Amino acid sequence: MTDPSDTGGTPLEHAALVDRISADSLTTRRDYLRIVATVSGGLAVGSTVVAAGVLPRHGDGTATPLRIADRIGRGQAVSFSYPGEDDRAIAARLSDGTLVGWSTICTHLACGVVRRPDHGRDGDLYCPCHEGEFDIRTGEVTAGPPPRPLPRVLLVEDARGAVWAVGTARSGEDPQAGLCRGLRERDPDLADRIGCDS
Ligand code: FES
Repeated sequence: MTDPSDTGGTPLEHAALVDRISADSLTTRRDYLRIVATVSGGLAVGSTVVAAGVLPRHGDGTATPLRIADRIGRGQAVSFSYPGEDDRAIAARLSDGTLVGWSTICTHLACGVVRRPDHGRDGDLYCPCHEGEFDIRTGEVTAGPPPRPLPRVLLVEDARGAVWAVGTARSGEDPQAGLCRGLRERDPDLADRIGCDS
């Protein structure tokens, strides 16, 4: 696991992301939601995606998009904080190329969850406090006392392969619903333009 050397995009890059989604065609805006849901849902990885949005603090509060890495290769993982400094999270590229992002605050008693790269095909997520385990592919609990899956951190890649955190979804929440909930708080007009239902 490595820490990102660059944990934030420049204001210009933020603006470019927002401009892209604001200026693109309606079709592209709809694609944006589809791509975000697809990429962050762990179903597939798009080669080029656009991002704009903000998000609740694992369900509450808002934050602007955050660039967390210039690139994440297969088998690699990056630790970061999002949306707040205390909101620890991890982004990982699985062996099949899928990009996933999870809160690393345990849903049991909030201990720090770590990745064990030598466990399983892609490394599981492990909480040492009471031996809780989570599936890194789905965030689901696979062992121990945690009562809920890990909240998801929504990730997208831009045209240069940089990875951005753009939002969060609560435990078990549909990624698109989480994205839209965050956008509604931060930028209702943008939420309308990209097709979020009220
Ligand atoms: S705090 Fe994580 S298993 Fe108890």
